[in-house]
Amino acid sequence: MASKVLNIVLALLVLFLVYQRSVVKNEKPEESNEVALKTEMIPDSLKTKVSLGKKNLMFPKPAVVIGSYDKDGVPNIMTAAWTGVVNSHPLKMAVSMRPATLSYHNLTLNKAFTINVPSTEWVGVADYVGRYSGHDMQKFEKLGLTPLQGDSVYAPYIKEFPIAIECKITEIIDLGSHRQFIGEVLDTKVTKAFLKGKKNVDVEKLDPLILANGYYGLGNYVAKPGQALKMYED
Ligand SMILES: Cc1cc2nc3c(=O)[nH]c(=O)nc-3n(C[C@H](O)[C@H](O)[C@H](O)COP(=O)(O)O)c2cc1C
Repeated sequence: MASKVLNIVLALLVLFLVYQRSVVKNEKPEESNEVALKTEMIPDSLKTKVSLGKKNLMFPKPAVVIGSYDKDGVPNIMTAAWTGVVNSHPLKMAVSMRPATLSYHNLTLNKAFTINVPSTEWVGVADYVGRYSGHDMQKFEKLGLTPLQGDSVYAPYIKEFPIAIECKITEIIDLGSHRQFIGEVLDTKVTKAFLKGKKNVDVEKLDPLILANGYYGLGNYVAKPGQALKMYED
């Protein structure tokens, strides 16, 4: 009789413990990867910004001209702003292009391109080759520019522009609207008149074309890297 009572007590105890565990489990917050956004905690006096949603407000953007050959070896150029340095060692630069451009197909085929950096004096060329396609015309010929074969890659560069960067494509990434071509830099050519010393470029003389809701030049020198931070150092 006593053992029966003991069994019942034990069974009740087990049931109670199971019930307790389930209650504790249900009280745990749901697991989620989302970080709680507690913007309502920020006082209105600090909210001086207006949210504009998904806007492309990266300033400035480069405005360079990409050189490539088509399937018949005809040289072509197009303007690109979706471009930049993406790695230091090895030095890599990338450019993103829409499939509608001829350049997209040229780069996909030949795995090579040149980046031609214009001075502001070449703004007309940059604007033109960013509007008209090599599908419809030979832009080098039309604009009286001289295509020269790169030394390190199968892509033409523009003789008249101050800087030409030769890139061999190492990675291709389809991002959505654009295909990104990442290229290792194999050579960089600079017109002698823009050199400062033996290996540096006189950027002020170069006056590179810049894009920011319109075309701009270089602007004012502000500070030397490593010096500007001094006001915050003890
Ligand atoms: C300032 C500027 C920047 C541009 N940037 C890009 C770019 O980064 N990627 C792109 O696919 N098209 C860009 N375009 C548009 C192409 O240059 C344009 O479609 C061109 O006609 C393509 O030439 P293609 O068909 O001969 O390759 C830009 C145009 C301008 C004017």
